[in-house]
Parts: sequence; C-alpha cells; structure tokens
Amino acid sequence: MNFEELTKVIHTRKSTYAYDYSDKKIDEKTIESVVTNALWAPTHLATQPWRFVVLEGKHQLDLSQFMASYYRELYTEKQFSNERYEATKTYAKNATLIGIVFTPNKKAKLPEWEELAAISCAVQNMWLSCTTLDLGSYWDSSLATMEYGKEYVNLEKDEQFLGIFFMGYVKENAPQVRRKRKPLSKKLSWNNKI
Ligand SMILES: Cc1cc2nc3c(=O)[nH]c(=O)nc-3n(C[C@H](O)[C@H](O)[C@H](O)COP(=O)(O)O)c2cc1C
Repeated sequence: MNFEELTKVIHTRKSTYAYDYSDKKIDEKTIESVVTNALWAPTHLATQPWRFVVLEGKHQLDLSQFMASYYRELYTEKQFSNERYEATKTYAKNATLIGIVFTPNKKAKLPEWEELAAISCAVQNMWLSCTTLDLGSYWDSSLATMEYGKEYVNLEKDEQFLGIFFMGYVKENAPQVRRKRKPLSKKLSWNNKI
C-alpha cells in the first residue's frame, strides 16, 4: 500500500471517449477482473445493489446508430453536424460496453441516494482499475444511452438502468486530455466548533 501510487492512479484517471479506442479487443478475463473490483465497493448494510451486463454482439453498432438517430432528431444541424452524425453511427464499434444496473434491496429499506452512492463507488473502482491497465474508459449516462439501455437491457421490476461503462484500448495518436479541477481552497473548509 502506497499513498503516492494511489494518488497517481486517482489523478491519472480520466474519461476517454470511444472515438479514441483502437480495435484491440479486451479479453474476458480482464473484463471480469475489472468488474470484480467493482464488487469490492462499500455499501451500507452490505446491500451490493448492482449488477453489470456486458453488451456484446450487435450492441456496439446498434447503440452507435441509436445515438446517431437520437441526436439527429433532437438537435439541429448546427448543434449536431452531419459530420458528427456520420461519425456517431460507428462511435462505439471498438468499445467494451458494461451496462450498469441498480437492483434496489427492498429488505434494507435504505434511502435511494445511499444505494446510488454505493454504485458510484463501484464504477469508480472500475475506472481506477482501467487506469492501471492502460485502458480508456468512462461512464456514459447520456440521453440516448439511457434510452437504449432501458429498451435493450432486460430489467427486472424495480431495477433501474444507470448507463454504460465504456472501456477500450486507446489509440496511439489519441489526444492527451486532462480536465481541470477547482483548487482545494474552494472545496475544503474547516468548521471549528468552540
Ligand atoms: C455519473 C456520471 C455520468 C457521466 N455521463 C457522461 C456522459 O453521458 N457523457 C460524457 O461525455 N461524459 C460523462 N461522464 C464523464 C464526465 O463528463 C467526466 O467525468 C468529467 O467531465 C470529468 O472529466 P474526467 O473524467 O476526464 O476527469 C459522466 C460521469 C459521471 C460520474
């Protein structure tokens, strides 16, 4: 256990979108290892209110085409150019897609936010795992993805679809994006009760 190494992983994690994924496939064992790390997230009353579904086969292209049509209909050409529309038709072709499903634990009767917070911890575990494996990844809960999941992921009554965790090996020439953070001074205060 090493704080510096952990800090490096946390600060290196980022969202890498599917345009930047190469066609190298992620093997099943690696996918299982990443999802296993999700299962080690903390949950209040150990409810583990999640399941994950690997969307494969036609899903990559079908999701891409669904996204393209969805945004073509929703946005004007100025907001969503024809060029973007064409590129979106194959957007997820190289992505490994993990559907994130919230399975509420009825017995525990926890507030929903606690269960969703736990799932967020699980997804962060996958995200950090991908970082150490040199895999690009991100959580996609965009309008089209949510619609697609609700339609094509089989959900039990009471379950909720929470988006797709995208994963892929990153192309060599992919841009090195690093998004900024606000400074600690704006986000941390000390409440000193005397
Ligand atoms: C719950 C959640 C949902 C997200 N959904 C989307 C999404 O639908 N589309 C997208 O481009 N990024 C999505 N993101 C990624 C964020 O845009 C990204 O984390 C943020 O811009 C910070 O960038 P970074 O991850 O590279 O640090 C999502 C992130 C979270 C935590």
